[in-house]
Amino acid sequence: MKKKIAVLFSGRGSNMLALHEATKNPSYPAEIVMTVTDRPDAQGIEKAQALGLPCRMLDATKFDDTQSFESNLHHILVTSQVEYICLAGFMRILSSWFVEKWKGKIVNIHPSLLPNFIGLKTHERALKEKVLEHGCSVHFVTPDLDKGPIIGQAKLNIENENCVKRVAERVLEAEHIIYPHALSLVASGLLSVDNTQASFMISPTV
Ligand code: GRF
Repeated sequence: MKKKIAVLFSGRGSNMLALHEATKNPSYPAEIVMTVTDRPDAQGIEKAQALGLPCRMLDATKFDDTQSFESNLHHILVTSQVEYICLAGFMRILSSWFVEKWKGKIVNIHPSLLPNFIGLKTHERALKEKVLEHGCSVHFVTPDLDKGPIIGQAKLNIENENCVKRVAERVLEAEHIIYPHALSLVASGLLSVDNTQASFMISPTV
């Protein structure tokens, strides 16, 4: 049985597209049963609709507080029998309450080689610090922001880079490679939040 996935996004939705593309393979162990966005202006909405993926709008500004937003989100996910949540540019920090309810079931893509550059503006910071390698990580979500066990990473040599846009493009391309692979490891049970021995590191030519 394929695992039922919800993809949560706030913006462009390119990782959602990459995940969807992977799920077209009949042997892929997961299927996207729904997408959810917290922003009515998210570009990803049109993309989800074009793919025929159900897209639920949970406009975060219409809720009194985080608890009521997350209770609604939880209810929607449970009702759709979602088993794993993929955060794909979802720009909200989920509370410990929500993360505990979905323990080991939420994965996120982050545009840096964690544990380096937790938080925002990762490419700017990587260039400013003149690091030689930068990249992206897929990890389990725990209450500690960007600190959950790592599922997979892609590293890129950026020693000759000086343009944030160019680095962002290369990292995004790498994200589209590692996210589907990381999700397949989780959905097939080869890797879990308590056992990440099968985690991977690749150096894609992007
Ligand atoms: C990606 O860079 C991801 O790492 C970060 O947000 C961005 C989302 O991009 N968490 P997209 O919406 O998937 O195109």
